[in-house]
Amino acid sequence: MFRAIPVAILSSLALSLTGCSESSLEGCVETLAGGPLPIATARDQRFQGKVRESTARCRGGEVALKFLNAPWVDWANYYATRDAASLDDLETRNRRGIGGALIDLEYARVELLKFNLFDNAGTYQQYLTGRPGLDGPTLKTWAEMRLPPTHPNFADVGGAGEQLCTGALIRGRTLTGICNDLRNPLMGSSGTLFANNSEFESLFPDAGLNVIARNRHGDRLSLLKPDPQVISRRLLTRAQSDPAACADGHGNPGVALGGSCDYKKAPFFNVLAAFWIQFMTHDWFSNLEEGHNAPESMKVGCTSQLVAGVDTPLTPQDVARLGCRPEDAIDRGFVAAGSAPPTFTHGGREYATRAPKTFRNTNTAWWDASQIYGYDETSRRRVKRDSTDPARLQVVLVEGRSAEGDRQGYLPLLDASDPKLPDWSGQEAVAFPDNWTIGMSFFHNVFTREHNQFVDEFRRRAARTPDADSGLRNPSTPARIIRYRDVTADELFEAARLVVSAEIAKIHTIEWTPQLLYNEPLFRGMNGNWFGLLNGEGPLPDSLERALLRLRNAPSSRANDLYSIVASGPGIFGQGSGKRGWSLSNPDDVNGGTNHFGSPFNFPQEFVTVYRLHPLVPDLIEYRETRSPDTIQSHVPVIETFRGKATPFVRQRGLGNWALSMGRQRLGLLALQNHPRFLQNLRIERLQSPTKQIDVAALDIIRDREHGVPRFNEFRRQYGLRQIASFDDFIDRHLPPDSPEAANQAQLAATLREVYGQHRCDASIPITVAQRNADGSPIDDCLGHPDGSMVDNVEDLDTVVGYLAETTRPHGFAISETQFVVFILNASRRLFSDRFLTSSFRPEFYTTLGVDWVNNNGPQKMIEPRAINGHDDQPVSPLKRVLMRVIPELESELTHVVNAFDPWARDRGEYYSLEWRPRSDAREDDAFRAPRAP
Ligand code: HEM
Repeated sequence: MFRAIPVAILSSLALSLTGCSESSLEGCVETLAGGPLPIATARDQRFQGKVRESTARCRGGEVALKFLNAPWVDWANYYATRDAASLDDLETRNRRGIGGALIDLEYARVELLKFNLFDNAGTYQQYLTGRPGLDGPTLKTWAEMRLPPTHPNFADVGGAGEQLCTGALIRGRTLTGICNDLRNPLMGSSGTLFANNSEFESLFPDAGLNVIARNRHGDRLSLLKPDPQVISRRLLTRAQSDPAACADGHGNPGVALGGSCDYKKAPFFNVLAAFWIQFMTHDWFSNLEEGHNAPESMKVGCTSQLVAGVDTPLTPQDVARLGCRPEDAIDRGFVAAGSAPPTFTHGGREYATRAPKTFRNTNTAWWDASQIYGYDETSRRRVKRDSTDPARLQVVLVEGRSAEGDRQGYLPLLDASDPKLPDWSGQEAVAFPDNWTIGMSFFHNVFTREHNQFVDEFRRRAARTPDADSGLRNPSTPARIIRYRDVTADELFEAARLVVSAEIAKIHTIEWTPQLLYNEPLFRGMNGNWFGLLNGEGPLPDSLERALLRLRNAPSSRANDLYSIVASGPGIFGQGSGKRGWSLSNPDDVNGGTNHFGSPFNFPQEFVTVYRLHPLVPDLIEYRETRSPDTIQSHVPVIETFRGKATPFVRQRGLGNWALSMGRQRLGLLALQNHPRFLQNLRIERLQSPTKQIDVAALDIIRDREHGVPRFNEFRRQYGLRQIASFDDFIDRHLPPDSPEAANQAQLAATLREVYGQHRCDASIPITVAQRNADGSPIDDCLGHPDGSMVDNVEDLDTVVGYLAETTRPHGFAISETQFVVFILNASRRLFSDRFLTSSFRPEFYTTLGVDWVNNNGPQKMIEPRAINGHDDQPVSPLKRVLMRVIPELESELTHVVNAFDPWARDRGEYYSLEWRPRSDAREDDAFRAPRAP
């Protein structure tokens, strides 16, 4: 039964979406005859995003065949997966292309869930060995996820006996994130350990902890080797055509018009999207505590470079030419456990029980808007509630601001009694105040207003129908109806928090991500995560829910493998919440929609790596005003809005003008040589160094090295992607070889070679156990090149640098496929594991208004009047709705906006166009007249 249902679903998905009825295509026939690709049973037999020749021909014709041998994933070359040029006249081909891409993506997710979960809290051994009658990947509770005796809620959850969260602890999102999972109270809470997605043995490559790591990297690596500041200056710095006008990101004095900093721009993604993702990371994770790292200070390079393959000290002239700073120092990262990990033997092989070093996520790992509401007692003290209605967040009215949205107020400032770093003085008061700029101020203000909008609407309903059922229930007295009039301010505050967090999750899943990955398969995939591929229609979802429940409770890991495939039918969001007979008194209903796939949920350190997205940020913001939206009034350096300086900017100029400015401006491409100048020269007063400056680009590299993240090639192998064999693999083969862009990419490959070097290879030494060559032989130091030849040190490439160097990307991908594969796994898990986004997405927790608000993107449904990329009846997107509510003065500007993260004056054209051209009524927009970025 367990096998039959998912296979039937997969086949029907495949058939309905791929439409393989077209008889002339032998590739399709061969593909069907070969049957569905089996799910790999061993790590080194993974699918690597590469398909058989017949499958490629069936799904993408000649284009897909042409790139079969490239290291990059195949689905990007299928029919209909790019812009209009990829659409075929035959609709069946288009369906095959899109359906094939979705199938490839689902296979990737299944394999990632199967091969990439490495918990550091002590559960990994059980994951491998299982428990009597249960395979490891089907385990659902762990002793390591119990609250310890020292925890203040130890007794509340059952103390030393069986632990189960009940009563007040399960009503909403708790401050520290405990009791999201009723039977694993500690999971995902603040201060628990980051996980890993890579095998423990592959971590800390520069420490040479095993023979494979030593084979892979020789003695070429250390924390500061290759030199991170040299990498930053040579490979990450934004080139400037007019360095004086940029002034390292400071622009013209007094934020005057005319300041100019060149940056490589993404035409289909705006600056709001850049700050959105910073706002998100402040919710999900942090390696720092209250904005600082460990007390010890260390140097950060600018001391040596490779000259003809030899590590050579930098001369003063080199330092001056590079512009780096040998005197910089930073505080070291925190380490939770640094001793050698205990080991165990399983199946004749020795395994480590955890990573060689572990690290704490000082934030809650849940999607709980903790950047707004807090993640521990200290951060909560900065969260200010309205004294006249404590269900609301406190706002203040700003004198002189008279736009409609201004009446909803602005965040108050941190006051003298608030816990804070001296650096944060003058900033607005929020739970997560670090690295504050205009962007953080913007989103915090927006969602503070949104919180209050929900509360106000609830209060209006309460005034109209005080005796009506609010939908809310208290788990301690589950049968008692709570009328609107009975809902306390605290209860309403917590319901509003749930609503705001779920809205944020929805914005991220169906608005931000489909614009980050702007093509049809990802539009469907992301909407599939939320609404289900079947879009909640027809009788199937109900039977799918039952199938999911059975799969979830099956003892074999085979069932677990199939779970995510079946889940793609009804979708992850709301999983288990619609079950007939759902009861608040039954913990298995409250918790029953989650699945942790045998490994407690927390983000892996590799997730932090792929979110090091500093190139997204421009140096200067093109400031506009709603009274004349096409005109760039001034260039505001982001650095001039750093920390406390953000507050006067946001208040004096108003949220509406900032929304317009950031909404219309393109963000920075994630590419080499595109880091903001100001971030390479950031002043941090708390540092104990002569310069008191840091180069955040260099720091991104150092922190990943401190955290032991595998280098780029092994990182890809660990995630089931194909390795590269030379820096030249970064040159996009889709480009005409004689094009200027191909020449530019060849130049970057040459610079990578200079910075990272080459070595004479030895074909007798294996360098990985994660993958094998196509013929089954071990991958060796020569990566397919002749034994003894000089090969690029691609194995040493830092992962951040590698993913920025990836120019071959699926259409409309603002990120690289290496980053994306990390999201496939962890973005899904963050939904799968959270009961408030699955089985506890119900009125009992959210109120009836809350559930409707999340489902309808506000108090009532609103549909876009036009089709979007061929899809009719599209709801007005959730962030657009939020902006319409909290900044009503944007109404006329937002009329044209379909996705709040697509530059607002861009003509979206037909079918996933990436062109940078103005919509008809914005032809005068200065951004379309300005010279193009280099
Ligand atoms: C103007 C804006 C920004 C500033 C001033 C800034 C600054 C910083 C600084 C100083 C660090 C700490 C480095 C350390 O000591 O480990 C950091 C870390 C980080 N930043 Fe940014 N950043 C900005 C924008 C962004 C954006 C847009 C993203 C996109 C996601 C981002 C993602 C990260 C991540 C993932 C980390 C590592 C955090 C951790 O280890 O917990 N930042 N940033």
